[in-house]
Amino acid sequence: MPMVAGSTDRRIDKLIYLLVKNATVVVPGPKIASEIGVTRATVWAWIEKLRSLGMDVRGVPAKGYQLVKIPDLLVPSLLRPELSGCEIGHSIVHYFRTESTNDVALELAAQGAAHGTVVVAEEQTAGRGRLGRVWYSEKSSGIYTSVILRPPLAPAAAPVLTLMAGLAAQKAVSSTTGLPVDIRWPNDLLVNGKKVCGILTEMSAEVDRLHAVVLGIGLNVNHIHLPAELKALASSLRLEAQRLISRAQLFVALLRELDRHYHLLLKEGSKAITERWAAASSFAHGKRVRVVSETGEAIVTTAGLDSSGALRVWHDDGREELLVTGEVQQVK
Ligand code: BTN
Repeated sequence: MPMVAGSTDRRIDKLIYLLVKNATVVVPGPKIASEIGVTRATVWAWIEKLRSLGMDVRGVPAKGYQLVKIPDLLVPSLLRPELSGCEIGHSIVHYFRTESTNDVALELAAQGAAHGTVVVAEEQTAGRGRLGRVWYSEKSSGIYTSVILRPPLAPAAAPVLTLMAGLAAQKAVSSTTGLPVDIRWPNDLLVNGKKVCGILTEMSAEVDRLHAVVLGIGLNVNHIHLPAELKALASSLRLEAQRLISRAQLFVALLRELDRHYHLLLKEGSKAITERWAAASSFAHGKRVRVVSETGEAIVTTAGLDSSGALRVWHDDGREELLVTGEVQQVK
């Protein structure tokens, strides 16, 4: 696995794991120090750092450290045991803070990172959305992740991979939260009409082969406040479900669903995805939507997906059009 600067030190990950696995007892400082291979002073400094990131660790004088509350962190040591048998997530690169997990994943992919490598951050300082927008990435509230895929497919399959990611995310969110989750073409997740998840697919390809696809997924999980300009259009799972959601549990479900749907796509082809997508989305058929494209704006009616994942729409003058990129908004 190539190294990228700034990712979480594996020994900090191990420290968190040790504290979580011994959560009911006080773990002596020297024991932690020798198990993770650092000095006692470093253990102390790292525990201070974890506290500053919101982890509740009690120091018991002359005895050691005890975790007060299990942290909802997305660190590899806590996630890996839940992902046995999955190709996606076999290697997880964790950041407490990075600019954009998609940038890290694209860099890792260029260095040869394997299929299924996952980058995840507790916070992004320059999260990127589709169409050049910013993705609001508040610390420890959301899931900000990028998954590297190396599909044995032609570049023409990219739109279906994008739909596949939306479908997998929809299954993960609905099974974890019990909320009704809609998919707006191509892959925004909506709860009660508001966006809770966006996906930015980026790739490197040759004419006939995809080298690497990076699925960048941003989920608003436990946000209580969203910036004023987002409030009318976006929400979080916590705001909609009226309860705190375990990010770790949702993240594991997301990676498992991605793994399952990716294998479904490879085994049964794009129809298996487009059919399931159409069944899961209220936007597939008969929805009045506003389409914004480079050539202007139009209000059209949706009429299903074609096999490549493009959205078929009817203009009011009877013209049919296939949308391959861009976005649609429901007309109220
Ligand atoms: C959208 O505009 O709907 C797509 C948003 C994608 C955001 C995610 S968060 C993780 C990954 N890193 C980024 O910089 N963007 C994607």
